[in-house]
Amino acid sequence: MVANRRGWIGWLVGGGAAASLASFAYPVLRFVIPPKVSEAPVNEVTAGKATDLLVNSARMIRFGSRPVLLIRISDSEYRAFDGMCTHLNCTVQYHQEGRQIWCACHNGFYDLNGKVVSGPPPRALAQYEVHLRGEDVIITKRS
Ligand code: FES
Repeated sequence: MVANRRGWIGWLVGGGAAASLASFAYPVLRFVIPPKVSEAPVNEVTAGKATDLLVNSARMIRFGSRPVLLIRISDSEYRAFDGMCTHLNCTVQYHQEGRQIWCACHNGFYDLNGKVVSGPPPRALAQYEVHLRGEDVIITKRS
C-alpha cells in the first residue's frame, strides 16, 4: 500500500515537473522557431485622395509589408518608390528643399527617378506605378 502511494506521488511530482518544463519550453521554442505566416500578395494599394498630398511633399504608405514613399511632384504627377534604402534598409524620406529622396542613416541621396545621386546606396530604389482613379491615388507594382 505504501509503495503504491509512493509510486503515485512520484508519478504526480514527475508529471507536474514535466508539465512545468513544457510550459517554459513551448514559448521559448515558438520564439526561436516562429510559425510561418503567409502573407497575401498585394498588387495594388489605394494611397488616399489626390488632394490629401500637397505639391512637393511626400507620405509613407504601406504596400503589404513594405513601406512605399509616395511623392507628389506636381499638380498631376506622383511617383512612388520602395521606402527602404538599398544600402542597409533604413527608411528613406523626401527632402523637400533638394527635391530628392534622402536616407538619414548614412546620408544617401536618390533623385526623383530613384537613382543614386550620392552616398553609399549601391543601387536605385525600386519604383512603383502611380495613377489616379477618380479622386484616389492608386499605387501598383511595376511589371
Ligand atoms: S542605410 Fe541608407 S545610406 Fe546607409
